[in-house]
Amino acid sequence: MLKKALILLLLILAGALGFYAALRNTHAPSTSVVYMRTYHYPASFVSQLKNDPKAGEKIYQEYCAACHAPNPMVDINAPSKGNKALWQALRQSLGEESLWQYTLMGHNAMPARGGCFECSDAQLRQALQYLEQ
Ligand code: HEC
Repeated sequence: MLKKALILLLLILAGALGFYAALRNTHAPSTSVVYMRTYHYPASFVSQLKNDPKAGEKIYQEYCAACHAPNPMVDINAPSKGNKALWQALRQSLGEESLWQYTLMGHNAMPARGGCFECSDAQLRQALQYLEQ
């Protein structure tokens, strides 16, 4: 009987400790975060970009950079951001309209809409413009 009571007491103490630790957890996501990362909430991410003059850059960072950054996470030979000569050559050989169509429809390993299916066409255009700079 005493043993059971002790075990119960220990469980209650452990629970209280856990609760206290959770309250003090400074790593818990803050409710005051203004800029939500996209990975699990693309719709919220995109809705935060309304009237944001840096929308193109932010979409680039969240989507395109995985493959188009100078040192990309996914290294599959996507033309790099910042390689102005290469983008100039692409514009000359393919034309701006084709680059736009590839952005929308995808091209070989390049995913349609750069993977941002929640992005509007206007937002994708901004991302493309930023990528080509
Ligand atoms: C999963 C990787 C990946 C992501 C994410 C990605 N791209 Fe690409 N992209 C590629 C690859 C690979 C190519 C080269 C395709 C080819 O020419 O065979 C490419 C090429 C392009 C081209 C040049 C057209 C062409 O086919 O050569 C444009 C424009 C482009 N991407 C725009 C974007 C934009 C804008 C985004 C973000 C909204 C984006 N991409 C996201 C992989 C990616």
